[in-house]
Amino acid sequence: MPVILSGGSGTRLWPMSRPERPKQFLALTATETMLQLTAARAHGDAFAAPIVVANALHADQVEAQLAAIGAAPQAIILEPAGRNTAPAIALAALAADGDAPMLVMPSDHVILDRDAFHAAIHAALPLVADGWLVTFGISPDAPETGYGYIKVGDEVAPGVNRVARFVEKPQRDAAEAMIAGGDHAWNGGIFLFRADAYLNALEQFRPDILAAATAAMKDARHDGACLYPDAAAFEASPSDSIDYAVMEKADRVAVVPVAMGWSDVGSWDALHQIAENDQHGNVVNGDAIVLDSRNCLVRSEGARIAMIGVEDLIVVASGNDILILPRGRSQDVKLLQEEMKRR
Ligand code: GDD
Ligand code: MG
Repeated sequence: MPVILSGGSGTRLWPMSRPERPKQFLALTATETMLQLTAARAHGDAFAAPIVVANALHADQVEAQLAAIGAAPQAIILEPAGRNTAPAIALAALAADGDAPMLVMPSDHVILDRDAFHAAIHAALPLVADGWLVTFGISPDAPETGYGYIKVGDEVAPGVNRVARFVEKPQRDAAEAMIAGGDHAWNGGIFLFRADAYLNALEQFRPDILAAATAAMKDARHDGACLYPDAAAFEASPSDSIDYAVMEKADRVAVVPVAMGWSDVGSWDALHQIAENDQHGNVVNGDAIVLDSRNCLVRSEGARIAMIGVEDLIVVASGNDILILPRGRSQDVKLLQEEMKRR
């Protein structure tokens, strides 16, 4: 059963990604939105209808975007406020059958090779049935500090290895050492486990999160496919990610190393890398005239952008906002948000 996590805020993709319409609801890499692409990659006979966990602010967008591609969800669980992924996944696990395998997917990735993704899921299923927590390992190409790192251990089933160690978001020097060692994969952020295996792990490592999620679901309000956990009970949950709360600590964790054209569309630079460039390395979307310029990302949702003779620039216009920065600096967009809050 697919579980789609759709509650992130995507602050580094401002000004297109905003609190009322974060990046998972945007069409960034295709005509479909990131949420629609996610739902579509776990759709069909082999998959049950998904559970989506999102912020209550976005209920209408989730419903409309899934309806538009004919992927009716089994449930949409609407959080009153974000408490990060460990509590969000707990809500879905409590709504699912205990022995149901849950395929937990972030809603903001690109996966080009869907068949390879499905084959990796298939390889993991016997271990999942046996209670293992399964991750998907991506071959790393840079010492990124925004990812989880998995030390790949012995093979425990065909194509599946034990996780010897899981390190979430390491410091730069640790990331460099792991890349140099050659025996680590990035965590793809996709998980596969039985609902009860996850709940047992939470009980062992984070009973506080499990207790809050359980209380919130006990008093949940139903409205069609939408499910509203009790706000006060859920907001009492500590905020933590599944990576820190469970994956770094648990024992029976496995990884399926898989080459599936995975990328995390985390920043404007990442999008420039993923998107198809013209012959000058420019990626242009919306109303824009770009002359004699190279390696630029230009994107407008309103104002016309005109550029002459520039290189390595990112220019994004949305509403009354225009963002301009050199390529390579797009991780810093989140600093802008802090600055804007201060004013
Ligand atoms: N429902 C809900 N509620 N969803 C959430 C919440 C929340 O409070 N917080 C985040 N999400 C969703 C995001 O929308 C995204 O789809 C997914 O959960 C992962 O959250 P991120 O915040 O994007 O995590 P990350 O990128 O820092 O790290 C994770 O992904 C990396 C790969 O992209 C980790 O799993 C890393 O280990 C991994 O390498
Ligand atoms: Mg992410």
